[in-house]
Amino acid sequence: MATKIKHIKVNDGLTSEQQSGVVELLKYVLADQHVLYMRMRNYHWNITGPQFQPLHALIENQYDQIAAAIDDTAERIRQYGAFAPGTLKEMLELARLDEEPGVVPSAREMVANLVADHEAVIRQLREDTKTAGDTYGDISVEDYFTGLVQDHQKMAWLLRAHLEGEGI
Ligand SMILES: [Fe+2]
Repeated sequence: MATKIKHIKVNDGLTSEQQSGVVELLKYVLADQHVLYMRMRNYHWNITGPQFQPLHALIENQYDQIAAAIDDTAERIRQYGAFAPGTLKEMLELARLDEEPGVVPSAREMVANLVADHEAVIRQLREDTKTAGDTYGDISVEDYFTGLVQDHQKMAWLLRAHLEGEGI
């Protein structure tokens, strides 16, 4: 039987409404990170062609970064006194990114899809950053999301460069 655990109110200068507002934003971001992480594992395994080795390694490097960010996001939710969602079912319900089951794209399409995902995450995080600051008055999550935007910009560039010049 599930036990009801009592939350202790975190006294950090935000109201309960402000805290639950930023927790909600963090949950959406956590879910998007999971969808992107899974897609990267998928592409790391299934990529083919002459650029296999560098792209296989680059994607691994990026999903390692996303894995670290996932942990940061979930632990931030805990710092506001809330519990982090911890099932794939909840991640899919919350995520704003879509999955594409049963499809194995070409290497070029995989790289283009990952660039598009990073860019979608960046656009969404720009809005979430504004909401965290303007609507919920939380400089902490505003700053955290700003850092994530910078990380995704770099990851997007490292992939986008494979599509430029001679291409793959
Ligand atoms: Fe591997």
